[in-house]
Amino acid sequence: MRIRRQGGSLVVDAPAKLNLFLEVLGRRPDGYHELETVMVSIGWFDTLRFTPVQESATVSLSIRSALPGAGEIPRTGENLVLRAAERLREAIRPQRGVAIELFKRIPWQAGLGGGSSNAAATLVALNAMWGAPLPASELHRLAAELGSDVNFFLDSHPLAVCRGRGERLEPVPLRRALDFVVIHPAGGLRTADVFHRWRPTDRHRESGELTRALCGRSGPCERLPLYNALERPAEELHPGVTECLRSLRACGLQHVGMSGSGSGCFGIAASRRQACLAARLLTARTGRLARIVRTAV
Ligand code: C5P
Repeated sequence: MRIRRQGGSLVVDAPAKLNLFLEVLGRRPDGYHELETVMVSIGWFDTLRFTPVQESATVSLSIRSALPGAGEIPRTGENLVLRAAERLREAIRPQRGVAIELFKRIPWQAGLGGGSSNAAATLVALNAMWGAPLPASELHRLAAELGSDVNFFLDSHPLAVCRGRGERLEPVPLRRALDFVVIHPAGGLRTADVFHRWRPTDRHRESGELTRALCGRSGPCERLPLYNALERPAEELHPGVTECLRSLRACGLQHVGMSGSGSGCFGIAASRRQACLAARLLTARTGRLARIVRTAV
C-alpha cells in the first residue's frame, strides 16, 4: 500500500491481489479451510482518505464508486473498513474520531481482495494517525480476526506464500514485473458459497515449482504452473467464470487462472504489448472491460 499526507488527512492507495496458486488442503474443525496459496499484489488500487474529527466516538464511512452495482457495497457495521476502524478504536481509545472516504475501483466479490486490502489500509493508517501505539504483531492479530486475506496486505509484500486460513505469510522475492490481463463476469461470488461447494481430492499440489519460477529472472514464457482448487466449484456456481477463462485462452494467453474464490480471472502476458492486444480483443469479444495490470513492485 502507498501512504501519503494530504493536508490534515492520510491518504492510502490499497492494492488488489491475484492468487496464482491456491490448494485447499482440507476442511478444519472451525469451519474454515486449510490453504496453501500464492498471492501477488497488483497495481490496481482503491483509495482511502482518513480525516480526523473532534468527536472521539465518531467513525464514519462514505463510499464513492463508478463501478456498476456500487450501491450493494455494505456501508454499515459489516463493512470491513468500519470493522477494522472500530476494532482499532476499541484497542487505542484515541482522543479524536475519524471520517473515512473510500474511492472504490476494485470490483468486489471477484476474488481480488479489495475489501481485505481496505481493512489492512485502515489498520495501518489509523494506527499511524492515532500515534502508532500498536506494534506490528498486534496489527497482525487484529488483521487475522478481520479476515483471512487481511494479513497479506498489511506488510505490502509483492509476493507471498500464505498458509493456514491464508493469514500465515512467507514472503517470496519477486525479481521481475509480470503483466496481467484481468476480467470478471457480471455478478460476483460469495467466498463462503464457493468454499462450501469444494470437495476433497486425493492429490495435493504444491506451490514450490511456481514460486521458484517467479523467483527467477527469466522471461514469463516458461512453465508457470498456475492452479486453483476453487475453480471448479466457482465454475459450477457461475458459468461466467468458465466463459472468462475460455476467452482469456482464446486471446492467446498461455497462463490463465481464476483468483481466490472468483469470479475474477486473469491471464499472464509475455509482454506489455501482448497484454494490450489481448485486453483489446477480450473487451471487444466479451463486452466486459478487460484491465491490464502489473505486479505492484
Ligand atoms: O476469512 P474471510 O472472512 O475472508 O472468509 C469468508 C468465508 O470464506 C468464511 O466465512 C469461510 O466460509 C470461507 N473461508 C474458508 N476457509 C478459508 C478462508 C475463507 O472456508 N481459509
